[in-house]
Amino acid sequence: MKYSVVNLSGESSAGAKEGFKDSPWLRHSACALLGLRPALAQHTAAEHAAFRKWACGCKCVVEIGVAEGVSALALREGMAEDGTLYLIDPFHLSRLPALNFIKRVAQRTVNGSLRGRVVWIEKFSPDAAREWNESIDLILIDGDHAEAAVERDWHDWSSYVRPGGVAVFHDARVFEGGWPSADYGPVKFVDRIFRSGGAPEWTIVEEIHSLFAVRRDK
Ligand SMILES: C[S@@+](CC[C@H](N)C(=O)[O-])C[C@H]1O[C@@H](n2cnc3c(N)ncnc32)[C@H](O)[C@@H]1O
Repeated sequence: MKYSVVNLSGESSAGAKEGFKDSPWLRHSACALLGLRPALAQHTAAEHAAFRKWACGCKCVVEIGVAEGVSALALREGMAEDGTLYLIDPFHLSRLPALNFIKRVAQRTVNGSLRGRVVWIEKFSPDAAREWNESIDLILIDGDHAEAAVERDWHDWSSYVRPGGVAVFHDARVFEGGWPSADYGPVKFVDRIFRSGGAPEWTIVEEIHSLFAVRRDK
């Protein structure tokens, strides 16, 4: 098992031993690097499939918020053979910055596919945006979850999404058996902007578990 997704209550984990999810020690990224547990996704299997599907054929894919790299792997597996995946994360949450196990697990996870090209941008998204100038086919926004930060990411990045391109928000829906609540930053942002006509050029194209996707009109 290279990675493990979030199981919803009542969902079977196909017989896999997932005790590591309850152990604070095993949850440490060093344990993934040592092979004691798989890389941990922060999304469900259905969301994983949706990431891959939306990346299909895309040449410029951006992810804000990589963590252990499992969503990035889905994007890489889906994107065009000659595509580029830009992975933006400062990896600032490591308690041992010199060793940065989270980043090393992410690199190993993403290298689980050799499709296309990967560019790592080890910065906070607003800093990465200052140097950005490319047209984007698909962006996954899953970094800082404060409502103001999600709004900032939208403000900084959405104008680069080409007409017909897609923006995906994660942790952005309340759903049965799921973890987001109505006061989650991405939930509040998505409800405020897209469910009330605040983004007329964008159409909602998918809602599955906590994932919310919008397409820029052509
Ligand atoms: C929820 S996790 C990402 C989960 C991952 N996409 C997945 O599905 O497995 C959030 C990540 O965002 C990163 N992060 C936090 N603030 C950020 C920012 N302003 N820009 C980019 N990444 C950020 C954190 O370091 C963390 O790794």
